[in-house]
Parts: sequence; structure tokens; C-alpha cells
Amino acid sequence: MSEFIATDLSSYYSLYEQSVRDPSKFWGDFAEKEFTWIKPWDNVLNCDLSKPEIRWFEGAKLNIVENCIDRHLQENAEKTAIIFEPNDPNESAQNISYAELSKNVNKTANMIRSLGAKKGDRVCLYMPMVPELAYAVLACAKIGAIHSVVFAGFSAKSLSDRINDAECKYVITADGGYRGSKVTPLKSITDEALQSCSCVSKVIVLKRTNTEVDMVLNRDVWWHDLYDNQPLECDAEVMDAEDELFILYTSGSTGQPKGMVHTCGGYMVYANYSFRSVFQYESNDVYWCTADIGWITGHSYIIYGPLSAGATTVMFEGVPSYPDMGRFWQVVEKHKVNILYTAPTAIRALAQCDISHVTNSDLSSLKTLGTVGEPINLEAWEWYDEQIGKGKCPIVDTWWQTETGGIMISPLAGITKTIPTFATLPLPGIQPCLMDQDGNEITEDDAEGRLCIKAPWPSMARTIYGNHQRFKGTYYSAFPSKYFTGDGAKRDANGNYRITGRVDDVVIVSGHNLGTAEIENVIDEHEAVTESAVVGYPHPIKGNSIYAFVTLKDDSKHLDSATLETEITSLVSKTLGPISKPEKIQFCDGLPKTRSGKIMRRILRKVASNEIDNFGDISTLLNPECVESIVVNRK
Ligand code: WTA
Repeated sequence: MSEFIATDLSSYYSLYEQSVRDPSKFWGDFAEKEFTWIKPWDNVLNCDLSKPEIRWFEGAKLNIVENCIDRHLQENAEKTAIIFEPNDPNESAQNISYAELSKNVNKTANMIRSLGAKKGDRVCLYMPMVPELAYAVLACAKIGAIHSVVFAGFSAKSLSDRINDAECKYVITADGGYRGSKVTPLKSITDEALQSCSCVSKVIVLKRTNTEVDMVLNRDVWWHDLYDNQPLECDAEVMDAEDELFILYTSGSTGQPKGMVHTCGGYMVYANYSFRSVFQYESNDVYWCTADIGWITGHSYIIYGPLSAGATTVMFEGVPSYPDMGRFWQVVEKHKVNILYTAPTAIRALAQCDISHVTNSDLSSLKTLGTVGEPINLEAWEWYDEQIGKGKCPIVDTWWQTETGGIMISPLAGITKTIPTFATLPLPGIQPCLMDQDGNEITEDDAEGRLCIKAPWPSMARTIYGNHQRFKGTYYSAFPSKYFTGDGAKRDANGNYRITGRVDDVVIVSGHNLGTAEIENVIDEHEAVTESAVVGYPHPIKGNSIYAFVTLKDDSKHLDSATLETEITSLVSKTLGPISKPEKIQFCDGLPKTRSGKIMRRILRKVASNEIDNFGDISTLLNPECVESIVVNRK
């Protein structure tokens, strides 16, 4: 273990104190000792949060793939880097050693280079959870191309928006992707998306499902045709610490998703640091994060964190319910997983099933459990603790975001005293604070407020791709020179944080961030609709579900509401993907508005959650009369 990674509570407090007293020394010493740099930095930190301009390890040169693969080859070439568990349990799993990973990434990098891709070009990856996705991510990083992974559950429209926003020149996809018993036709979705993307010149298509596809002449090439004869060696591009490593889109409070930009040096340092600290990874552990690489969790804690630490990381193609609800536990037994990192929504779904699904598998290899993506409720936490951890495994409830790049507030496994539903304490280097409505920091403990971070950390997002103004406006304007997370939180008398949920227009459904504005834009496109307001309401398994309040045009009010509901639901599903579908749609005569014309979502949120006894003061509304009929007709 490194001297920078806490091993007990007193070393945690001491490291925390050092990291706050002198962040440059703390991160500079860690970065110097633990990574391979081609050239050292001039400054550890050069940052002005009022702009914000954020630079870590300025002047340094490196390649993150050398740190994730090449440097492990001398001593650990034969160690398993990735265990691939396919969707179908009858298909063999693959153990990919660091030596094999190195060759495969090099061939993939040479393949992408052979199309003309070079440093700074954007490459969109729209792929299933197969090893080639990991190779493609690392191959881009090796040649300095910027990867933009788009989750393979997104629709053609979401895909084309993201390709256009990043002006991707290249797309890598597959004929199809397996998800449980379904096959998603990824290539045909890509074809539809590319009808509105003139920036794309080449598409590489991996064969995975043998789904029939149309190949466009001069644009599309099969992965296997291009890959097989590529050389096994590939020079790594020399990157500046502040060169862009990847773009990853996340939902925001307008319809347009935000392309969060992460850079090479700081991201690498913190993904590694947080992985080792939180999970207390030991060199023979088998670690499994069940997220998809299409989300930040997959970037930081399937790929970059674990591989930079020389770990063995499991990559699972399937879903928890296929072929039956015991699959997660079968995979744990099969690969003797020691550390399991998953989402509260999966835990809640699995806790509903007959317990024999759990008890049929031997879970004795497990020593640490983790959760991420949304607040975990007490019941789910206790089930996870008792049924999966058998009361012996610490649970790390990790709070962080696409924007933060790495875990910010979390217990360190076996070190921090866990408290169900609390993310507990900040990692070394992370300085959270709570702000009140008037913009003042709340310094007392036992308080509740808006969660901000008041000092820079290495893996913070640097900008929104192509829109620095929006970056500043969204994250650095509500509370000047502090990063505003969009979450609310409580802090207990001992400084432990409990995240209470979003305070902005983002709803988290089954761990996916959905921007309500994006869904409203789609509903409003329906010809019968005047306007809509989308809010979240609590759902026992998904955490939240989507409730849409919709007003209709006068000449459409007579239409059959069941038919309209179906049409609107399928429009959303087709445009944004099934995860964004409203679970309930209510047609109303009017939506409650403030005098400045803003929809009062606070009221609609209460109606959707069936909390109808106290709306607070509604006299400031332009049209208070509409509230009563909304309440009466609620679903
Ligand atoms: C929520 C996922 C409570 C939070 C890594 C945050 C959580 C958003 C937790 C970011 C947690 C994530 N407890 N809430 N442990 N982890 N969240 O960008 O609202 O997909 O702002 O990043 O998820 O979601 P994102």
C-alpha cells in the first residue's frame, strides 16, 4: 500500500489534513510516486474558479494508457486485467491478461489510426459491453483521440445530437448488442442517426450478434477486416496533462445534453487514488463494477481506475435478470468476486425476488460492497448488508457525478464507520460545504443545504464541450468560486454527509440522469400538445419515475386520452430511448405558473408524489384555480 492511501481512521484524518493544508504538495507527491510521466509538471495546480480556469499538472507529459497497461507488463504481464462475462451464461467467459490487453489495444489503436484518426479527433463509441469497447476506449486514449462513449440504450436522435455536438469524425459501433433476451440493432440505429450527421467520415462495425446490417460504401468497414493484420506495437501519443481525454454527455436543465470534458493528467491521478482508497483494493482481488461503460462509473471504475492500479476488473455484458434473477450472484460465485460495486436500483429489484436466487450461489468470496448513482434507502441498504454481505462486508455508499470524475464522498472500506443512507466523509483532497438560500456557507454541523465543493480536485470537469459559458453558468455561478453540485445534502454532528437528492431539474430514474426539459421538448412536439411539465416521483424500485403534466390544444381536447397517452409515450421512447418514458401522463386544463410565466414545479412534484395537504403559499400564482383540478384528477 502506498503511504498516500489511508489504512485506518487515523491515517485517513492525517491524510485529509495534509491534503487540505497543502493540496499541491499532497497531489504532487502522490502523482510523482505513483505514475509514469514522460515529463514532469511546472505547476501542480493553477486554478481560478471564478472563470473557471482549471489546470492540474500543467506542463507535464504522459500517456494514460502507459499507466493503465504498459507499466504493468514487466511484473504482471500474465495477470488477468479484464474478466469478460458474456450476456449468455453458456458462452465462455474470457480472461484477458495485461499482455493480451496490451496487444489488443495496440491493434485497435493502429486500426483507428489507419483511418486517419489523430490526436484531438473525436471518436464516438456506440457499443455493447464487450471487450472491444474497452479496447476502443483505451486505443483512443493511446493515440490521443478523444472518446465520446454513448450508452448503447440511447436512441438514434440522442446519438446524433451527441455526435454532432462533439463533431465526431469516426463512429465505432456493432451490428447489434445483447441485453438479456433482446438484441438491440446498434448498426441500424447508427445509420438512422448518421442521416443527420455530416461530420462523420468513417464507421467501424464490430460483429457481435450476426444481425443483418447495411454497409454504406466508402463509409462503413467491418472491425475484423481492418483489425486482423494490424501490428502488435503502437507508439503512444505524448499528451499534455491538460489535453482532453474524453467527452461524456450528461443531462442538464435545458434540452441540450452537456458534454463534460475530462483531461488526461488530473483525471488519471484521481481515478486511481479514489479507486484504491475507497475499495481498499489488494493485488489479488477480483473487482466487479456492474455499471455500463457508457456512464462515468464505467469510465472511472471499470477502466481507468482499476487498470491504472493493475487490478482485475470484471466486465459484464448482460443484465441482472437474465437468464434469471440470480445472475449477479452466479457471476459472483463463478469469478470469486471480492469487491462488488452496483446501483441501488439493481439492489431494490433483486431484493424483491425469492431469496433462493441469492442463497443458491456461494457468495463467500465477497469482502466489500459498494453502491453508486442515487441515494440508497434504508431497506435496500439493510438487505444488501444482510443478504449479500452476510453482515460481514462494509458497504461503501459512494457519492459523485459525471462532472466530478471520481468518488468524492464515501466511506473507505473497512475504515470509515458506515451509517446506512449516508455517504459519510469526503475523500482526502475533497472539501465539500453546505450553502444556504442566501448564498452563505453553513458552518455549523447538523445542518442541511445545497452541496458545493469549495476547492479544486484533480479530476474535476474542465468545461462543457464547446460551451464554456454554460459550464460557468451551471456550476460556478449560483455560489461564486464554488462548484455547485445540483444536489442537496445534510451533515450530521460528526461531519457525515447524507445526500438528499437533486435540487435542480434532473430526475434520476434507475440510476440514469434524465433532464426533465429534454423530455418536455419531445412531448411538446406531439401535434395535440400545447405544453408539458415533467417531474419525478418516488418509485419503489426505480428510485424515481417520470410523471408528465400535459395541456392540449383546444382542437385536440376531444381526442381519446388513452390513445394520446400511448402516442406520447412511444414518441418519448423512440426519440430519447425507453428509459425516459413517462410512467404517468395527466392531461390538465392549465399548468400552475408564476407571474413571470415559469411553471411552478414544486406544486407538480407534490401532486405527483401524492402529497396534497400542503402546497405552501400559492397566492403568487398567475392561475391558482388550475391547482384544484390537477389535484382531483391526479393519477
Ligand atoms: C446522484 C454517477 C446519493 C446525485 C456517478 C448526483 C447519488 C448524480 C449517489 C450524479 C449516492 C450519485 N448517493 N446520490 N451515493 N451517487 N448520486 O452524473 O444526485 O450519473 O448528482 O454520476 O447521481 O449522477 P451521474
